[in-house]
Amino acid sequence: MCGIVGFTGNNQAAPILLDGLSKLEYRGYDSAGIAVRNGEAETEVIKEKGKLKVLAEMTNDGKAVKGTCGIGHTRWATHGDPSAVNAHPHSSDDGNVIAVHNGIIENYQEQREKLIKKGYSFKSQTDTEVAVKLIDYYYKKYSNEPIEALSHAMMRIRGSYALCVMFKDYPGEIYCARKDSPMIIGIADDESYVASDVPAILKYTRKVYYIGNMEIAKLEKGNVIFYNIDSEIIEKPLTEIKWDAASAEKGGYEHFMLKEIHEQPKVIRDTVNSVVKDGIVHFDSVTLTDDEIKALDQVYIIACGSAYHVGMDLQYVIESLTSISVRVELASEFRYRDMKLKKNSLAIVISQSGETADSLAALRLAKDKGIKTLGIVNVVGSSIAREADNVFYTLAGPEISVATTKAYSCQLVAGYLLALQFAKTRDEIEDISYTKFLNEINTIPEKVEKILEDKVRLQWYSNKLVNISDAFFIGRGIDYAIGMEGSLKLKEISYIHSEAYAAGELKHGPISLIEDSTVVISVVTQDKLIEKTVSNMVEVKSRGAKVMAVTTVGNYFLEDTAEFVCYIPQIHSLFSGSLSVIPLQLISYYVSIGKGYDVDKPRNLAKSVTVE
Ligand code: M6R
Repeated sequence: MCGIVGFTGNNQAAPILLDGLSKLEYRGYDSAGIAVRNGEAETEVIKEKGKLKVLAEMTNDGKAVKGTCGIGHTRWATHGDPSAVNAHPHSSDDGNVIAVHNGIIENYQEQREKLIKKGYSFKSQTDTEVAVKLIDYYYKKYSNEPIEALSHAMMRIRGSYALCVMFKDYPGEIYCARKDSPMIIGIADDESYVASDVPAILKYTRKVYYIGNMEIAKLEKGNVIFYNIDSEIIEKPLTEIKWDAASAEKGGYEHFMLKEIHEQPKVIRDTVNSVVKDGIVHFDSVTLTDDEIKALDQVYIIACGSAYHVGMDLQYVIESLTSISVRVELASEFRYRDMKLKKNSLAIVISQSGETADSLAALRLAKDKGIKTLGIVNVVGSSIAREADNVFYTLAGPEISVATTKAYSCQLVAGYLLALQFAKTRDEIEDISYTKFLNEINTIPEKVEKILEDKVRLQWYSNKLVNISDAFFIGRGIDYAIGMEGSLKLKEISYIHSEAYAAGELKHGPISLIEDSTVVISVVTQDKLIEKTVSNMVEVKSRGAKVMAVTTVGNYFLEDTAEFVCYIPQIHSLFSGSLSVIPLQLISYYVSIGKGYDVDKPRNLAKSVTVE
């Protein structure tokens, strides 16, 4: 969602802020702004509706704004429409306090009314302006002391925030406060950075601090001091980000999504190799004991969007390899349901960003209910990674495209490995089968490469879909789970209405939507279910549908029913999802570019959904 960048050092701040914000564009935004300060001089605030290039033009790429300390923001509108006045930074009435903010302040109406009674006035419709004026109120009340002002404001604010604040009396310093919104602090020689996500500062430093919930940080040139809510100084460990700067660039590809699709063989291999040593899975960071794994009789997989679809696939894998029952829950539903969680259960929360608000809330709820939690997370040091009892890091590297591809694929193999290891620990799999399955998982990267070689044919087929208005994805079992992901991919970047149905459900309603030329994409890889799904394909074809199929090499008879067939290499049907999803990713990519859309930054969407 919104993006934050801050810098203080010896270099000019504005070009660094604009550059950092450009690396956060993928998060989604509709206006942008910067505030830069040159020593004791007045702070200059420039903000406008629209893309960053507007800001770059207004400031001659930042060169027209002088100063070595500043904060910048890209805003994804929540309170108030996208406009210059609602864009951040926001200032106190006297300009003494200037801030940018990510998150949502839930009690902003109540605080706004109190502040109005105290003589404050408001220019914008935002919750952020309320936070700024609340900080200003406490700043004046507590003898112009920034840490006191922030900690008192934090005690009054309900909701989530990553706040970066500059105070007129403290040139060269940036104050940050955080609760439930991502924010990292980077450090280099004589320079300090703050950002809502790693790519913004990766070019400048890999040394970062993670600021915790309800903590405050004071940034000076090359130095950071952390405080708790009681204004006491606290120590934080310095961590090194392993991602290299090039991995957050397009590397010759036209779009991040295409690059990330092509990175899949490597990142799947990296994720597998991170835990498989000498033919055995070693989960160093998963501290569940063998006895705890043996006692498990229920797993809850909780996630949002594509990560939820990973859970939909994994339920078949875990239930097939072990005697553990699995429930897959949307985090946004789970958190507000009064579910009776079983005692011997494990909540697996899957999240690329590790910051999705609903997933984080669901994780906390599971912990409150006393069950063990495990995060499958991509972003190191993210909230879910830090708060889960156990964490399995996927090694997808930075994923910039809003539509997830490589993180999804890494989550899937991470889940296979967990399932396999659970089965082994519980003595539910023979050694020979364990080794056979592990060998199958090891073949996934090269098989994905093979599918990518067929992309020209997929591009040709995708061009036929550019003008369709509806698509249906059908499949059974794992194929249904993959259809759900294919359908989401298509709709989120091509804006084509699409739905996924369990093929057996067609006759219970959706088949009435099938008419001449309706596109039906069927995923048909589960040996035991092929005939059943083919019957459904025939049923829709006889009602005029144009049918496409993704199936395994050898199932050539599908060409009798489907007008286009994409073949994936042979693999054990439990792991076919890792292969069948690839053509669906490519199709949605090619349809989106065929329609001329901004494939990496689809409208209304944000990469990391940090508010409800
Ligand atoms: O960061 P997370 O994995 O928690 O994100 C979950 C969803 O927001 C995400 O998968 C979303 O559905 C993507 N846009 C799908 O491509």
